[in-house]
Amino acid sequence: MSEFLRPLAELRLRHSSKWRRYAPDVLPMHVAEMDYEIAPQIQELLIDFIQRSDLGYLGPIPEVADAFVGFAERHWGWTPDPKQIRIATDVSVGTVEILRALTKPGDRVLINSPVYAAFYVWLKEVGCQIADVPLIPDLETWRLDIAGIEKAFQDGVKFYLLCSPHNPMGRVHERHELEAIAELALKYGVVVISDEIHAPLTYEAGAFVPYLGVSDAARETGVVVTAASKSFNLAGLKASIFVTQSATMASRIAQVPPDTHWRSSILGGFAMACAFRECDDWLTQANAANRANRDLLTKLVSERLPGVPYWVAQGGYLAWLDLSSLNIGDNPAARILEEQRVSLVPGTDLGADYPQYVRINFAASAEAIERTVEAIASYLPAS
Ligand SMILES: Cc1ncc(COP(=O)(O)O)c(C=O)c1O
Repeated sequence: MSEFLRPLAELRLRHSSKWRRYAPDVLPMHVAEMDYEIAPQIQELLIDFIQRSDLGYLGPIPEVADAFVGFAERHWGWTPDPKQIRIATDVSVGTVEILRALTKPGDRVLINSPVYAAFYVWLKEVGCQIADVPLIPDLETWRLDIAGIEKAFQDGVKFYLLCSPHNPMGRVHERHELEAIAELALKYGVVVISDEIHAPLTYEAGAFVPYLGVSDAARETGVVVTAASKSFNLAGLKASIFVTQSATMASRIAQVPPDTHWRSSILGGFAMACAFRECDDWLTQANAANRANRDLLTKLVSERLPGVPYWVAQGGYLAWLDLSSLNIGDNPAARILEEQRVSLVPGTDLGADYPQYVRINFAASAEAIERTVEAIASYLPAS
């Protein structure tokens, strides 16, 4: 098997957005791609498809539902209904099409800031208004504000775009929180679109709870959108799934055009099936690497960035830091990019109220993580 983490000089030859957005001297720590090699089984599958010129349109692919059901059973003890699993181009397109089918322009959709930047883009694209009930931070993590969510439902919000686990701070919502949301959603007639794309990256076995696995109320109110793209590093291949588990939600989701399947890619579809079916070993390796990087970042932040609030991720490869105490100006990420040549995601991409925050992608080498922390530490007041 090839090296899991390639040297920086080689990574710079990649053609993805991560490596092309900024000048070649910039260390890219922004977009959520991992610097790891993809699973050998997926490499072989893709090479095989290409060598046989098997690059036509995506047709029936029962392999995806079978593989996802097996994955969900093995990892989360959840058995989805394979007949209620449908394909879309990616999680973005799947979610936008679900919103388009269920909402009308002007409808309010609940989100919990700070949250994945594209949530704002998707809601704007479908003409919906944002109803924000921010997460509440404490020293350990950022938690869902269940009372605030109920208030929003009481005020008439009928759609909820839940990020589970939560991007940017890698918060894995707890079963009791999801149960409470499901009960409230049922009570107030709210549809919950649960974006679970980061779920396979949860470090602790059993910690992640799929929304549709929590209760009948969740199954009556929820649709899960997910993919192998984030957790198996396949974002460019373009394939995702959306999943319901009740007659009520299946009939509502039936309004999503069947062409979302046709508009995804044959390579993405079969790579996703392969990832969910036979790449558990690779995922274990990726999660161990991410967890070790998380521990390194935690250590470096405590040693080198005193006074910088930071929350220890429970999964994934994203970290959320509050740089207010460093006085880096109105847009710390822009200044760090310009002066230190390290690209981070500015907090305002994840919510207007977070201008002093940055998001770091730590699925990278120890050297890259160290350089990133040093770039931020260069703004510490001289002691
Ligand atoms: C929460 C979340 N949803 C969706 C996506 C994008 O998924 P896709 O590339 O399948 O559209 C991301 C990418 O980072 C994400 O963090």
